[in-house]
Amino acid sequence: MKVLVIGSGGREHALCWAIANSPLVTELFAAPGNGGIASVATLIDLKPEDIAGLVTWACDNAIDFCVPGPEAPLVAGLVDAMEAAGIACFGPSAAAAQLEGSKTFMKEVADAAGVPTAGWARFTDAQAARAHVTDQGAPIVVKADGLAAGKGVTVAMSVEEAHAAIDDALVGNVFGEAGASVVIEEFMEGEEVSFHVLVDGETVLPLATAQDHKRVGDGDTGPNTGGMGCYSPTPIVTDAVEESILETIIRPSVAEMARRGCTFRGVLFAGLMMTPSGAKLLEFNVRFGDPECQVMMARLMSDLLPALMATRSGELHHTSLRWWPKAALSVVMATEGYPASYPKDTPMSGLEAADAMEDVTVFHAGTRRDGDQWLSTGGRVLGVTALGETIEDAQTRAYEAVDRIDWPQGFCRRDIGWRAVGR
Ligand code: AMP
Ligand code: GLY
Repeated sequence: MKVLVIGSGGREHALCWAIANSPLVTELFAAPGNGGIASVATLIDLKPEDIAGLVTWACDNAIDFCVPGPEAPLVAGLVDAMEAAGIACFGPSAAAAQLEGSKTFMKEVADAAGVPTAGWARFTDAQAARAHVTDQGAPIVVKADGLAAGKGVTVAMSVEEAHAAIDDALVGNVFGEAGASVVIEEFMEGEEVSFHVLVDGETVLPLATAQDHKRVGDGDTGPNTGGMGCYSPTPIVTDAVEESILETIIRPSVAEMARRGCTFRGVLFAGLMMTPSGAKLLEFNVRFGDPECQVMMARLMSDLLPALMATRSGELHHTSLRWWPKAALSVVMATEGYPASYPKDTPMSGLEAADAMEDVTVFHAGTRRDGDQWLSTGGRVLGVTALGETIEDAQTRAYEAVDRIDWPQGFCRRDIGWRAVGR
């Protein structure tokens, strides 16, 4: 089979790394990929947003199966376009991808399905939104309705901060069309969990659980990022908790999507807040988490590709997945300055030495090769991922690997996994 993976981050490196191991694969391509992905796939110089270009390329090259990584092309209709051209493609239709593409849509589905989630209201008028916040008080959460590259959410600790976020979106237009309406949510407190399932429209197959560290600084402080590291499994999701998440959140939402005529197929990633009164839904994503995908792929024993194909063709009820009974932990190394502005093309070395350690894989999120030199190309650049007997053991090994990497302009958190290790 000829397989095309779309995207260029650590998530896509992990997907390519897993898919390259499948005995079903004869050729693997990645568009556009990155320096690390080039070691397992042939890079194609097409951007994920270039849907027409990708479809044409996939047809011209007789691609048998396509696996998109990021959300933006899903929301823009990549799967619909590939399927219409006769290319089998993993992931949701544009209509189903609205679960991530519109916070309002997601809240409406959750409410209709009776899913526990934060109370909310939607506004297009800044005056009315401000008045609502004044009335509700802080802390309170302001979200741009549409896709804002992970930057559209403000967890406001004061009414003034919430008012500023409202003005940014509705008056200042800083998120463009994505911020033309805002969803204002009740603040929820607890530990966050990343819960992924494969869904073929009907059957739900849970993947390994994971917990992400979203804040840039040690001790979970500082601004939010796309994720600075994570681990799997997450001890707070016991078998009983998992069953209750499936029962109260996942299955009702999947059924509601089918009822609305936008059947969900693909990977559904629920961001959950574990509150004293049980798991509550923060958000749905319609793709694998990044870096959650890295730890999941490190632990996956089964062949990923047949599971993705069964998800697309509605045959998940025949599929089961096996996981290594080990823990995995991934430390993100980012360029100094991230999540604000950062330099590009900073040199790094020692990647091969780190990757050569037993049970360690260095996933690349933003690198390129220049001669025999590795250069950074993004904010999040590497995901140093290790397996271990316990989360603590995986943590020790991951940081041993990190310490083999020499990158003066890079940094990482030194405490990934602290909640689980301390438990
Ligand atoms: P989202 O993109 O909707 O997941 O929001 C990004 C982050 O903001 C989440 O991972 C949470 O840390 C935080 N967040 C979102 N909604 C809420 C909420 N209702 N209460 C508390 N924190 C939230
Ligand atoms: N790591 C969180 C996300 O991918 O959205």
